[in-house]
Amino acid sequence: MHIISILLLFSSCYKCFGYYQFQAYIPNGLNVKDPCDATQIWKGVGHMGPLGSGPRNAFGEDFKLNGFQWTTDLCWKDSDQDGRYNGYELGDPWCLWNPGSKQALYPPLSHPGICEPWDSEKCQSRNGSLQCNNKMPACDGINATDVKNITLRLPLSYVPARRVSYVCSLFSLPSDAEYHVIAALPIRDNSQILHGITVFGCDPRRQFNRTDRAYLCNGIPTTPCQEIITGYTSGVPQTCMPAEAGVRIGIKGFKQVMVAFQYYNPTRRQGYTDSSGMTLYYTPKLRRFDAGVSPLEVTHFSIPPGRESYEVVSACPGDCTVLQVASPIYIILGMNHMHRLGRKQRIEIHRGGKLQQTVTNDTNYKVVHPHYFWYKQPIQLLPGDMLKMTCEYNSTSENDTVEWDVSYEEKCVKVYFVLPQTKLAWCITARIIDLFLFVRS
Ligand SMILES: *[C@@H]1O[C@H](CO)[C@@H](O)[C@H](O)[C@H]1NC(C)=O
Ligand SMILES: *[C@@H]1O[C@H](CO)[C@@H](O)[C@H](O)[C@H]1NC(C)=O
Ligand SMILES: *[C@@H]1O[C@H](CO)[C@@H](O)[C@H](O)[C@H]1NC(C)=O
Ligand SMILES: *[C@@H]1O[C@H](CO)[C@@H](O)[C@H](O)[C@H]1NC(C)=O
Ligand SMILES: *[C@@H]1O[C@H](CO)[C@@H](O)[C@H](O)[C@H]1NC(C)=O
Ligand SMILES: *[C@@H]1O[C@H](CO)[C@@H](O)[C@H](O)[C@H]1NC(C)=O
Ligand SMILES: *[C@@H]1O[C@H](CO)[C@@H](O)[C@H](O)[C@H]1NC(C)=O
Repeated sequence: MHIISILLLFSSCYKCFGYYQFQAYIPNGLNVKDPCDATQIWKGVGHMGPLGSGPRNAFGEDFKLNGFQWTTDLCWKDSDQDGRYNGYELGDPWCLWNPGSKQALYPPLSHPGICEPWDSEKCQSRNGSLQCNNKMPACDGINATDVKNITLRLPLSYVPARRVSYVCSLFSLPSDAEYHVIAALPIRDNSQILHGITVFGCDPRRQFNRTDRAYLCNGIPTTPCQEIITGYTSGVPQTCMPAEAGVRIGIKGFKQVMVAFQYYNPTRRQGYTDSSGMTLYYTPKLRRFDAGVSPLEVTHFSIPPGRESYEVVSACPGDCTVLQVASPIYIILGMNHMHRLGRKQRIEIHRGGKLQQTVTNDTNYKVVHPHYFWYKQPIQLLPGDMLKMTCEYNSTSENDTVEWDVSYEEKCVKVYFVLPQTKLAWCITARIIDLFLFVRS
């Protein structure tokens, strides 16, 4: 009798909102992010629907077969067959956790029951694959007859046995004519550890002779390759320029790029290799606008220890956008970037002394799952507008002051694609890093 009533309870839950009670039985059960929107929690980790509704997903089926218990076997299993085992995805990479243990967990990296990256060919060919509707514009036009492609592929390289590492390689681009790069799609070779790719354009006045090597780097812009052209992360699976814009390469544009590959190897396993890359699509039919990137950053700040909320504010005054922006530009994408103490970040546009619009308002910032703000209705920035950026940190875990640092400690950075190429950077007293996608009306 008892058993039957429990089963009935389960089957009714299955129809409505799933097994919330199991969240405590798996590592990070309350923290798994929605693969479509990293600001949202996927409450029923074992179910197809984000609120824990619908039928079980592959992880839910395995969890059930395992008697609803987190065991070493279940931990090492890759239920959703996306190349990452369940423990890795849930932040228990050594499979040491159990509900009673005090085992420290990493933040969950991805979803154990949903094949990721959800938009990859492998995942999309599955039955019941996830469809997100907040994805960026489709890459229309990459199959047009005038569009060519070049694949920038890392020579097969060992990935360091470090938690986070970067490997860089230099590539030459076609420079026999003028071209616009209109799209960039990643090639994910070892998707288990590949965390992101950034493509930096190099100063066209400098020419590297050797471009076939991979070397260790720190993934930040370095002279002479400082301009971010495009990139890949789980929130930006591909870059597709609006129909009127492209990044200029060739005679008057970038001739070489440095591509930085970021790896996340929490078990510090030796022997991983990778040969990921990026395919750039480019056309000699030049578009109306040059897309560009304006890397700006707040630097030289420090965070006192023991503060639950410490704000770093920086502004680009109106006088200076008048100088820098001759006519309206439009923002299409905004991203926030801080490091481990980051808590909240936002950028605001002020017009005539009043808040006009908030561009990127992230009230629950997580460095492993930054939130990307795509604007299907682009946000207008007018000459004279003031840009104000606020980064908020939580330093309660610190005993000492944390300094801004170019490579590791804290950052207050935003990344936007800019179009047309606009240098908002140098007007800001403390530098702000932004990478906007601006489109002129
Ligand atoms: C996909 O899954 C559904 C539900 O499990 C099933 O009815 C259907 O036949 C499956 N389709 C394929 C092509 O496997
Ligand atoms: C481009 O062509 C390929 C191969 O024919 C096809 O798979 C892809 O869907 C096409 N892409 C677009 C955006 O039309
Ligand atoms: C690149 O272009 C070639 C033809 O020039 C085409 O055969 C190939 O499919 C393209 N590759 C990609 C990844 O689109
Ligand atoms: C590249 O090669 C050219 C000609 O061989 C040489 O003049 C130049 O100094 C080299 N540049 C670098 C950075 O090594
Ligand atoms: C940012 O979002 C939070 C939560 O949605 C909201 O309370 C706050 O007012 C927003 N801030 C701005 C400046 O838009
Ligand atoms: C600040 O960080 C501490 C330690 O990491 C944490 O316990 C606390 O909940 C955080 N506070 C807020 C408001 O996020
Ligand atoms: C801060 O000080 C406490 C007590 O001395 C110590 O236990 C803790 O590890 C220190 N934290 C850091 C981040 O150094």
